[in-house]
Amino acid sequence: MASTLTDTLALDGGPRAIPEPLPGGAAARSLIDEREVEAVSAVIRSGQLFRFADHDNSQCTQFEKEACDYVGVKYGLIVNSGTDALICGLVGLGVGPGDEVLVPAYTYIASAAAVVAVGAVPVIVECDESLGMDPADAAAKITPYTKAMLPVHMQGVPCRLADLLGLAKEQGLLVLEDCCQSIGARYHGRVTGSFGDAGAWSLNYYKVITCGEGGFVFTNSYPAYERICFTGEPGLPMWMKDNYGDSFGWQGEPFSFLGLRSNEISAAMIRVQLSKIETALGRTRAVKHAVLDDLDPAPRHYRLQHQDDPRGDCGLSLALICHNQETAHRFGAALSAEGMGTGAAHREGFPDRHIYRYWDSILNKRAYHPHASPWTHPAYKGRVEYHQDMCPRTLDILNRTLRLGLNVNMTAAHGQQIAAAINKVDRLI
Ligand SMILES: Cc1ncc(COP(=O)(O)O)c(C=O)c1O
Repeated sequence: MASTLTDTLALDGGPRAIPEPLPGGAAARSLIDEREVEAVSAVIRSGQLFRFADHDNSQCTQFEKEACDYVGVKYGLIVNSGTDALICGLVGLGVGPGDEVLVPAYTYIASAAAVVAVGAVPVIVECDESLGMDPADAAAKITPYTKAMLPVHMQGVPCRLADLLGLAKEQGLLVLEDCCQSIGARYHGRVTGSFGDAGAWSLNYYKVITCGEGGFVFTNSYPAYERICFTGEPGLPMWMKDNYGDSFGWQGEPFSFLGLRSNEISAAMIRVQLSKIETALGRTRAVKHAVLDDLDPAPRHYRLQHQDDPRGDCGLSLALICHNQETAHRFGAALSAEGMGTGAAHREGFPDRHIYRYWDSILNKRAYHPHASPWTHPAYKGRVEYHQDMCPRTLDILNRTLRLGLNVNMTAAHGQQIAAAINKVDRLI
């Protein structure tokens, strides 16, 4: 009787492979405790809420040092959002009107919007089964106007960095790594973001570490760093002069652009979150390893997402790429009934701004002002056309991909249950 039941899908009335509801949660956000409360309270009590009032000892400066050490880079600036961090990174690298930037078809719209914000043209590149930018399509989309590429490490998983970096080197392209969803991911032992010419984190509520909203942009290039600083703060030469007197000198010419300054309260909180990052990632990685260890080595209906270096993955998600869309649909429904809620990454009709198809402002080439349009700027000599079906391979993969979320409140035992549920569904549907 028991074996008959375990051979019956929960959808068909069998027992669930995951009997109790799985714990919900996120990464370091789920570890918020009195330490964050105390750090923020201390800043408020101090009355010292402006980074430039005591620049060297400010929470912002201390976070920048700690985060740079963590990534293994020299210079970094905390800003208000991941989008701001990308904008700063692009300006820092000298990207602007007339330039094209390669952006993957599967990423939050902010990656492409940041390119438009600096006056450059995003060129949308297919993703492959790494769920990141496909190096072959990236190569095919390079034109004489391509200045940079913006590879994105989605949902904690590094993209095909080695091939993309090789292509960038061969073609003389700059690389801005979008690590907004993958803070702390490693690639062959090194933290992502340290491979490109610059990198960007988002510190928003859904990210690995958070202070509610925020961003961090970093680089090993001092000239790029200076440009990043000018981008984020038009008053910088004045504030810095206050701190360093007349001896303070910029190497480059300061320019004015945006006001992206972060604040002491956010920085105090994110410093505590950063100190918890390895604990958070240690837990999510342990859950993911437990799933992977127990998965059937020869599944019938799916392949796992390609990863160049699975050890560096943050462990926040698991992607099952089914052989066709119909199977993905049945697999997802059956797995959800077993207790692991999931669905296809692309669902027709849901305007998911993580998929290029729903970047309507980009596809329609809408800028904030008609005279500020990167696509019609006199410096731009290229021609890029967009349409909703321009990356059929990406859509096909996302239609077949089931995404499973993992979090710090799960244990290895939950991972084993998830694997058992996947194996059961794979065997029985
Ligand atoms: C891949 C990616 N890039 C950029 C961003 C933008 O970050 P933020 O929301 O902090 O502006 C996000 C965040 O949602 C993201 O997921």
